[in-house]
Amino acid sequence: MLPTATLLLGLAGSALGFNACQLIANKVSSATDVYYPGSSSYVADNEHYATSSSQASKCSVEPGSAEDVGIILAIVGKTKTPFGVKGGGHATNQGFSSTTGVQIAMTRFIEVTYDSATQTAVIGAGNIWDDVYEVLNAQSVNVLGGRVTGVGVAGFTLGGGYSYLSNQYGLAIDNVVAYELVAPNATVVTVTEENDPDLFFSLKGGFNNYGIVTRFTLKTYPQGSVWGGVASYNASYISVFNAAAVKFCSEVTDPKAAMVMTYAYASGQVSLATQMFYDGPTPPDGIFDDFLAIPALAQDFTTRSYFDLIGSTTFPTGLRTVYNHIPTLEYSESTIEDMINELNFWGPTLSAHGATSVTYAVEPFLPGLLTHAPAGSSAYPGSRDHTVFPSIVGLQWVSQSEDDVFLDAARQTAEKLGVAGESIYPNYAIYDAPVVDMYGEEGVKRMEATRERVDPYGVMLLTGGFKV
Ligand SMILES: Cc1cc2nc3c(=O)[nH]c(=O)nc-3n(C[C@H](O)[C@H](O)[C@H](O)COP(=O)(O)OP(=O)(O)OC[C@H]3O[C@@H](n4cnc5c(N)ncnc54)[C@H](O)[C@@H]3O)c2cc1C
Ligand SMILES: *[C@@H]1O[C@H](CO)[C@@H](O)[C@H](O)[C@H]1NC(C)=O
Ligand SMILES: *[C@@H]1O[C@H](CO)[C@@H](O)[C@H](O)[C@H]1NC(C)=O
Repeated sequence: MLPTATLLLGLAGSALGFNACQLIANKVSSATDVYYPGSSSYVADNEHYATSSSQASKCSVEPGSAEDVGIILAIVGKTKTPFGVKGGGHATNQGFSSTTGVQIAMTRFIEVTYDSATQTAVIGAGNIWDDVYEVLNAQSVNVLGGRVTGVGVAGFTLGGGYSYLSNQYGLAIDNVVAYELVAPNATVVTVTEENDPDLFFSLKGGFNNYGIVTRFTLKTYPQGSVWGGVASYNASYISVFNAAAVKFCSEVTDPKAAMVMTYAYASGQVSLATQMFYDGPTPPDGIFDDFLAIPALAQDFTTRSYFDLIGSTTFPTGLRTVYNHIPTLEYSESTIEDMINELNFWGPTLSAHGATSVTYAVEPFLPGLLTHAPAGSSAYPGSRDHTVFPSIVGLQWVSQSEDDVFLDAARQTAEKLGVAGESIYPNYAIYDAPVVDMYGEEGVKRMEATRERVDPYGVMLLTGGFKV
């Protein structure tokens, strides 16, 4: 197992990077363009949801075909140039989809093609979910994707993928039928369960360790209008809010219902919020009633398309941000109290360092969440024996000089609240989380063997992220 390569990658930058940019520009087809500092495409290609996830690359490349992605990989591999691969740019770790070398932005892979005969959709790796939902909405079908606006298809689907539809159909990785992959040897291959079970397994959680994915073929499901939205509440309702949260988490068994409850500290105050979802035009009585009875400061629950719901759910962007997964086995009164105690400590503590928000989210799913795919079918999670809730801590701040304070806090609070030994969710994990905690020992072995076969020269070690 190799350490996270992120921090090493800056070293080889300098002149090498520029040389690679020119080699790429000379060799790719006219479908692809290379951009340099000063161009607006260069800025967009390096931009992220979190400002702390961005770096200044030597150039950016927007490949227009899988073959050109192969040419780019061959050049960065040969010249040992560090590179980044960016989908929707929602990684909350620096270096995971950023680089000081060559930034590869997948933004031209925006295909969304629904095939009603196979009930699948081919989805380009440069899409954000909003654009996918918009196209599929017109066909009255849907896929397993993000719950707020702006999230990228690629990272979400390569790292796991918790959706509002997961209680019904599993994680995003459980719904992948095929990957179009530009392998590290620059060849374009289609990876399925049948033709390469080890690589198929490894791509389900393994991000950019095996090459660059250009297209995903995903299972689709019929989709009608849905009910849902967001609400925020005054902290004076915290005890009734907690009671409603514990009740929802322990009693609601309807797989069409989903929620996220958040506890946040900002501007010297605790605030409470919910995201509610029901896969149907009206939720049955009883499911959300306790929350709906709390007077909201603001709320927008309504019946609408899935596309509209997600498009209207925004999170603050343009800030430095760190996420960390808090592996949780139950949402009881005491686990929620523990979370609030941490909030009450870190809220004021981090505000003194310029925090704009300190947030803990409760993300309940049903006990059967991981039974929609067989054990051993995906690298993440290390075990499918039971559901581990993806509780998350999210910290946002302004000043780069405070980065270490926030990274340490995210690490400490997850360590304190999380259940040791449970699978860590790669898409929420802080940059130095050990991969064995995500994929388990067996999983890591299988992934390592696959990496040695698929990437014998370590081309993908030139890019950042969780490395096996
Ligand atoms: C506001 C917000 C909301 C979120 N909501 C959810 C949610 O509801 N459910 C959930 O499960 N997660 C959620 N996440 C986490 C999200 O799933 C991850 O951040 C995910 O990795 C984002 O994908 P991306 O393509 O936008 O990210 P990027 O930053 O572009 O990429 C993430 C990683 O994937 C790699 N990668 C990207 N494209 C490719 C490719 N084509 N081939 C190979 N590797 C590639 C990158 O190199 C990088 O390591 C959320 C995150 C944020 C910031
Ligand atoms: C929240 O409730 C407290 C106590 O009732 C009140 O003082 C405060 O103004 C309320 N805040 C908002 C934003 O409504
Ligand atoms: C390139 O790698 C892929 C994936 O491992 C493999 O299927 C293919 O045979 C390799 N091609 C060559 C020419 O080595």
